Amino acid sequence: MPAHSPGLLAGNPPPRWGAPGDDLAAPSTGAASADPGPGPGPREHFMSASAAPACRTPERQRHVAALLPVVGGGLEVPLADGRSVVEYTNLDYAASAPALAAVAARVEEVLPYYSSVHRGAGWTSQISTRLYEASRARVAHFLGARADDVLVFTRNTTDALNLLASAVPVGSGDVLVLEIEHHANLLPWLARPHRVLPVAGTLQRTLVALEQALAATPTALLAVTGASNVTGEELPIAHLAALAHTYGARIVVDGAQLAPHRRIDLQAAGVDYLALSGHKLYAPYGAGALVGRRDWLDVAQPYLAGGGAVRAVEVGSVQWAPAPARHEAGTPNVLGAVALAAACQTLAALPAGALEVHEERLRDRLVAGLRQLDGVRVQRLWDDCPSSIGVVTFTVDGYDPGLVAAVLSAEHGIGVRDGKFCAHPLLSRLGLEEGAVRASLGVGSSSDDVDRLLAALGSLVEVGPAREYHLVEGRWAPVHDRRALPSWLAGAPSGGPSPCQGA
Ligand SMILES: Cc1ncc(COP(=O)(O)O)c(C=O)c1O
Repeated sequence: MPAHSPGLLAGNPPPRWGAPGDDLAAPSTGAASADPGPGPGPREHFMSASAAPACRTPERQRHVAALLPVVGGGLEVPLADGRSVVEYTNLDYAASAPALAAVAARVEEVLPYYSSVHRGAGWTSQISTRLYEASRARVAHFLGARADDVLVFTRNTTDALNLLASAVPVGSGDVLVLEIEHHANLLPWLARPHRVLPVAGTLQRTLVALEQALAATPTALLAVTGASNVTGEELPIAHLAALAHTYGARIVVDGAQLAPHRRIDLQAAGVDYLALSGHKLYAPYGAGALVGRRDWLDVAQPYLAGGGAVRAVEVGSVQWAPAPARHEAGTPNVLGAVALAAACQTLAALPAGALEVHEERLRDRLVAGLRQLDGVRVQRLWDDCPSSIGVVTFTVDGYDPGLVAAVLSAEHGIGVRDGKFCAHPLLSRLGLEEGAVRASLGVGSSSDDVDRLLAALGSLVEVGPAREYHLVEGRWAPVHDRRALPSWLAGAPSGGPSPCQGA
C-alpha cells in the first residue's frame, strides 16, 4: 500500500490535474491551477462579512439574492384549491438540485455534436470524444485531484461507492464507517469485512472513538460523509484523512452533499477518494464520479463487463483496460459528463468564499426563524460541530412530518423532503423513528424562499392546516386536491410511495 503522509498538508504539493484550457482541450497534466482554490472556511467568511462597513439593517432582515441563475427559477405551481398559482419555493436541493442556467446552455450548445464516444471516425464523434475527456479533466481539476489520480464517470454517488467497494483489495483490512451515513455509504460495505461505529454525543468524542477504532483493527478504508444529508453538519475531512493515514488506512469521502456546498481540494485535504452526484451539483443529466487513487481501480474486477473496458478479447481470454475505461463499459453518458463539467466550471468561477457566505446567511436565517416557532425543533447531532451546509432538518410537535410536507406543498407551493432520508440508523440515533422534515438550500435560493417557509410553518403552528388531509398509499395528500398536472403529463401513473420513506 503506498504511503499517504499527512505531510501532504504541509510540504510542497505534488502535481495535480491541470486546468483544461478550453472545453475541447485534451486533459493536460501537471499544469498550474487556474481555478481559485478553496477559500477560507465558512466561519472566517462570516466574520469578514460582519466586519464589513456598518449596516443598520440587522443581518436577519437583509435580503439575500440567489447566487446563480437556475433553470426553473420563477416557476409557477398550482395550490390544492385549484384556483391559486404561486411561485415555486424549492427547498429540496439536497435531494436533486435544479440545473444551473449555464449548465443547460452548455448542454444545448453541444447537443448538435452529440455522438458516439471513443469509437467513431466522424467529426461529431471526434468532438464528442474530446468533450467527454475534457469534461473528465475539468471535474478532476475542480476537485483538486492529484496528477496521477483517476476519475471514473458513474451514474451517481451510489454507483461510485459501489464501484469502490468492489475495488478494495481482499485481505487489506476492514472498512470503517460511521452510523450516520446515507445508505449509499453504508450498504455497499456490508458485503465485505466492515465495522459500523456509533457516534458519540460530541464531534470531539466521536473523533476520539474513531481514532481508537482505527488503532484497534487493521483498516483498509475509512468511509465518511463530507456533510450529513440530514443535519447538514460537516465532518473535518482533512483531519479524518490524516487520522486514517496514520493508521495505514485510506479514506473515501461521500461528497454527495459536500461538493455542492463547499469547494473541495482532494490533494490539500489528503483525501484518497471522493464520490459525488451530478444531479445534486446542479447538473441533472445522469452523471456522477468517483475520483481518487489509481492503483486499486487499475486492478479491480471491471465494474461492468462489456465494450470499451477492454484492450483485446479472444474467445476464452480478455485483456482488460486500466481505469477509467476498465470501469466505464458501454456507451458513456457524454452529455452527463459535459453537464457536470459545466457545473464545476461555473462554481469555480464564483469569487472565493461566495458560496459559503451565501449559504451561511440563508442557513442562519432559517435556523433562527425555526427556533422562534413554537414546537418546531431543529435536529442536530453535535453542539460542537463548527460548520454546517445549507441542509436543515426539523420536526413540528403534533404533526407527522409527511403531513407538514404535504401542507407546505398543497397550501404554499413549497417543496421540502420528509421521511428518513435514506439514513435510517441516523434517524434512530436522533430518536426520530417517525422521520422528520428537511429544508435544503443552494445557489438558486434567496432569503424570500426562507421567509416563505417560515411564514408557512408559522401559520401551521398557530392555526393548523387550511385543508383536510388523508393518507393515500402511505403519503399525506389533501382531500379534493384540485391541482392539475401539466397537459403533457395528464394520465401518467402516480409515483407511489418512496422506498426510503417507510419506517
Ligand atoms: C450524503 C449522500 N450520499 C449519497 C447519496 C446518494 O446519492 P445518489 O442517489 O445520487 O446516488 C445521497 C443522496 O441523497 C446523499 O445525500
